[in-house]
Amino acid sequence: IPVDDFDLVIFGGTGDLARRKILPGLYRRYCSGQMPDQARIIGAARGDHDADEFRSMVRDAIKEFSKKNDCDDDKIEAFLKQLDFVSIDARGDKGWPELKGLMRDGVVKAFYFSVAPSLFGDIAERLHLNEIADAQSRIVVEKPFGRDLESAKALNKDLAKHFEETQIYRIDHYLGKETVQNLMAIRFGNILFEPLWNSQYVDHIQITVAETVGVGGRGEYYDKSGAMRDMVQNHLMQLLCLIAMEPPARFEPDSVRDEKLKVIRALEPVDPHHIVRGQYAATESEADYRTDAGDPRSRTESYVALRAMISNWRWAGTPFYLRTGKKLKARTSEIAVVFKDAPHSIFGPDAGRHRNILSIRVQPNEGITMQVTIKEPGPGGMRLIDVPLDMTFAEALGEEAEDIPDAYERLIMDVIRGNQTLFMRGDEVEAAWAWTDPIIQGWELRNDVPKPYDVGSSGPEDALMMMHRDGRRWREIK
Ligand code: BG6
Repeated sequence: IPVDDFDLVIFGGTGDLARRKILPGLYRRYCSGQMPDQARIIGAARGDHDADEFRSMVRDAIKEFSKKNDCDDDKIEAFLKQLDFVSIDARGDKGWPELKGLMRDGVVKAFYFSVAPSLFGDIAERLHLNEIADAQSRIVVEKPFGRDLESAKALNKDLAKHFEETQIYRIDHYLGKETVQNLMAIRFGNILFEPLWNSQYVDHIQITVAETVGVGGRGEYYDKSGAMRDMVQNHLMQLLCLIAMEPPARFEPDSVRDEKLKVIRALEPVDPHHIVRGQYAATESEADYRTDAGDPRSRTESYVALRAMISNWRWAGTPFYLRTGKKLKARTSEIAVVFKDAPHSIFGPDAGRHRNILSIRVQPNEGITMQVTIKEPGPGGMRLIDVPLDMTFAEALGEEAEDIPDAYERLIMDVIRGNQTLFMRGDEVEAAWAWTDPIIQGWELRNDVPKPYDVGSSGPEDALMMMHRDGRRWREIK
């Protein structure tokens, strides 16, 4: 179904994110017929390019970052005709009248700020002063949304000078991932899980986002952030919210976001014994974090594992273990709900310990596995074993799984449709920083040195010990 006609301006249109994700994503939406033929995409950046140079850059980006079978030369050329470019100075006067001249009336106007947060306020102000944006326009802002509560508040304030909250789309691309939305479908579309979804039946929950990539190439940004700011404050926090929130009354922006906010506000401060920072160390063939980051003394963490507790009626006493890291053993994102033991075993002490585990694989190999206990086949008496009840979305959905849009495609189309459900509200982002700030401040105060872990491992030993002390085990990263 095509969306309404639109003019989308991408500030930072020649930057890395635009080339890797935004423009190839828009191209895929074009190919699927969702982008109207008149819709226009205007790249805006500091460089002195003209529209043809921009188109040629986008052509290369599509070929480099789209799946091979998406790249039909005729289609690419037709898509490129819908593109334009303006060379602009975010902090000066250059380019703004030209941009105004390119914008049409009577269509959805969206402005994607794919630039450093320090420019958000300047761009918002110039869009307003030059009367380019109006009360119906939408702005899209990328993470990082600040680096602490104070800076996030300042950003919210700057944007609020010229735009209403209903016009601001703060992206967390994890919310655009198909399986992440599936979390809500699984929880609230089935009667099976919700009655068990609480501390009475759930022993604990593990949220893992493991990556094999390092920070090479983005060392300068990453070294000032670290895993806590780069991943936990946003992506892992969003996963935690969707798993833990109360059922919203409707799948609508404020119903969902109100419930997520309540979860963040109910988080207890993290106990320092239940948090581990790590930094990847060199192996024979791989450089260490400090080399990648270009600072031989860096104390920035490339790994975090922590135990979060939610003080509310549903979750009191049930730990949520979160971990994320770079250069780990495998690329895998998973949410595992580990249920409690059955209250009584009719099979006697020899039957061993058996638990149901619901595992939701966010990526790769998206799907769900339920670990269930059955009788071991054979005549050897009543012996129990755990087996997976496995569902891979690609298998279950067949070819349709191929057409699943990537996170950015989905989110950009939501902006054009005016649907904020999968975007973070200002108060949500602030509440998330209010929870992470004391953790980061504690590290800074103590001059904390992250624990080394080998490239290709599962993370630092201390993270294993942290779980061990709680009488639990991390799930294998594989
Ligand atoms: C980004 C982080 O937001 O998410 C990166 O800045 C990280 O450091 C990336 O690698 C992970 O996203 P995905 O979609 O590859 O899991």
